[in-house]
Amino acid sequence: MTKPIDSHDSDTNDTSNPHFSTVLEARMSRRNLLRGSMASAATAALGVVGLSGCGGSDPAPTTPPATQVPPVTPVPTPAPVEKLLAFSAVSKSLADMVTVPAGYTASVLIALGDPIVNGATAFKNDGSDADFDNRSGDHHDGMEFYGLSGTGTASNSSSDRGLLAINHEATTDEKLSSHFLHANGGTSSLPRPAAEVDREVAVHGLAVVEVKKTGNAWTYVKDSAFNRRVTPLTEVELSGPVRGNALAVTKYSANGTKTRGTLNNCGTGRTPWGSYLSGEENWAGYFVRSASDDAARNDKSVASLKRYGRNQGATSRHGWETGGADDKYARWDLSRKGASLDGSDDYRNELNALGYIIEMDPYDKTRALKKRTALGRYAHESAAFGPVVAGQPLAVYMGDDSRNEYIYKFVSSATWNAADAQANDRIAIGDKYLDAGKLYVAKFNADGSGAWVELAIANPAIATYAGYAFADQADVLVNARLAADAVGATKMDRPEWCSVNPKNGEIYYSLTNNSNRTIDASGSSLLVPDAANPRAYTDMKGASAQKGNPNGHILRMKEGSGAGAATAFTWDVYLFGAEATADSGTINLSALTADQDFSSPDGLAFSPYTGICWIQTDDGAYTDVTNCMMLAAIPGQVGDGAKATLNYTKAGGGAVAVDTFVGKKPTADTLKRFLVGPVGSEITGITETPDGKSMFINIQHPGETTALANIGDPTKYTSQWPSNAGYGAGKRPRSSTIVITKNDGGRIGT
Ligand code: FEO
Ligand code: CA
Ligand code: CA
Repeated sequence: MTKPIDSHDSDTNDTSNPHFSTVLEARMSRRNLLRGSMASAATAALGVVGLSGCGGSDPAPTTPPATQVPPVTPVPTPAPVEKLLAFSAVSKSLADMVTVPAGYTASVLIALGDPIVNGATAFKNDGSDADFDNRSGDHHDGMEFYGLSGTGTASNSSSDRGLLAINHEATTDEKLSSHFLHANGGTSSLPRPAAEVDREVAVHGLAVVEVKKTGNAWTYVKDSAFNRRVTPLTEVELSGPVRGNALAVTKYSANGTKTRGTLNNCGTGRTPWGSYLSGEENWAGYFVRSASDDAARNDKSVASLKRYGRNQGATSRHGWETGGADDKYARWDLSRKGASLDGSDDYRNELNALGYIIEMDPYDKTRALKKRTALGRYAHESAAFGPVVAGQPLAVYMGDDSRNEYIYKFVSSATWNAADAQANDRIAIGDKYLDAGKLYVAKFNADGSGAWVELAIANPAIATYAGYAFADQADVLVNARLAADAVGATKMDRPEWCSVNPKNGEIYYSLTNNSNRTIDASGSSLLVPDAANPRAYTDMKGASAQKGNPNGHILRMKEGSGAGAATAFTWDVYLFGAEATADSGTINLSALTADQDFSSPDGLAFSPYTGICWIQTDDGAYTDVTNCMMLAAIPGQVGDGAKATLNYTKAGGGAVAVDTFVGKKPTADTLKRFLVGPVGSEITGITETPDGKSMFINIQHPGETTALANIGDPTKYTSQWPSNAGYGAGKRPRSSTIVITKNDGGRIGT
């Protein structure tokens, strides 16, 4: 979701926790060519640069020399040396297209509404399609590729057939309704018609879609037996410490063991045993609470709801609770209505069933998904595993994406058995590693050190916390934000994705932006800059002043002794997002050039195959100059840069100096823009085939800046992608998965 206009990024952390300053991949896709009426028109319509190189760079066939007498030993042709980041940087762009470097091709693979079940009709894209639980969902986000052998079994080496597991985070909305799902844009007042609600609910959730490469073109397999949609109505299980807890009791599950669906799924994770993890992010905003619910409850749940962004009187994002009398609509209302003491007659506890990392076996659609409650409840993004070592516990790194929220780590109780990587019952292996362990939150110190603080009911700071009376460890996990408040965790500039560098195990976190950083902090949610979140400045977007840390940064951490189980770490800031022309002493601290500058890093993932660190943006700050983008990087390591001091002056006078640690500045060979997306889109989701030659990424919500009033006039859509790239019916913009290949058959990013 686009950032600065992101109403879904809540800020509910009004604790006085100290911050730093105080504690301180193949050729052109024939598929898309065929979609245009002729090749040249299609080329233009693809909206992709770099096609001129198509076929032109194929290596000449090696012809054996004519027989010579006497024969000579041929001198072998040296294998071409692969160089990472050898492509030419893509320029910033406001064009309504996907731009990739010369020599690369980007093709649309699957878009919102495409049928994924045999019998589902072709998507008309005019607001008349309905059966979205048989179609690709909306707002494609995090995504992972799972290989399939020729016989359809799981394969870690297949690079021409596999399953894409895809998060469908949300839908493009304005004033309750969803723009492009309904013929007229939908009903933007309450009550919402049931038929509209049903569509909107069904575009959320997850998908598994088989994809295959035929010749050099990727297509999805419409009638694959593997294809699956999980929606907010699919029954799923609660697993781990919260299962069966009083806090999880609802009218749907009187014993607190199950719930319906998953919602607002953002980042992902891939387990060492081959399952899919998905993070539930901005789920709270889908629920309402009555204006008098505090009194109706009159218990500690009020503090919990407030901390998770649902004050009494809160209205819902889409008004789904008004769809009708059916229980599937009633569950979106959190108000206490029933007379029961335990909540088994209403949905007062429904919010406690959301906010988890949920596990899915992408290869087996008969298996129920499980929410792994031991990893805590908050606005989850990705779940990244640290280095996997036999006999050692597993570490899973996670973030909570809201302003001023925290960075977390889960360490499994079970130690890794390499045989588990081959297990067929992946969900059972998930039970083993993800249902028991310790949850930690990060505290950053001004000297470049940091600590992981365990969130345990045994910790007196938690057990006796004045802000909330924790009953047990399950309560600590359900209310992880409150427990983290209690131990004084460091408030961060919106932790988005994280990823672990395969070279050295260091952990990278995108901190996307934070409009609440200010040297003149005087409100409870305003924070002074600290060492790990050191910038507070003004960036102009036209006449609009954007304050705080509008461009975000990328933090990295190195575990201390004990590796994944360490309780101490060191850190620095790998990169500061900035405009290339911004002041180098206070804003453009990483000295980004015009080929490198970016704002609001969000998706971040190291390729396990090439080692390249891919950085994706979801920005609203620099969008007067460029659409969102993806960059390729080859980072160094924690401590490879230098200390820097940022000097601030308070409004009323008074100097404040904030020390930070800036990673070694990138060069033209270590950081380069690789892709720029269509208008109004964010670039997100990234996964590759094991040969590193095909990369799948997602283009989310192109054209989201279109006003609802313009729904009847395609010429007024801010984007018509991917139809303007020759893909599909209609002009309405559609979130899509694209596949990127290199025309010379090389690996992506070379
Ligand atoms: Fe769904 Fe924090 O981005
Ligand atoms: Ca600007
Ligand atoms: Ca995100």
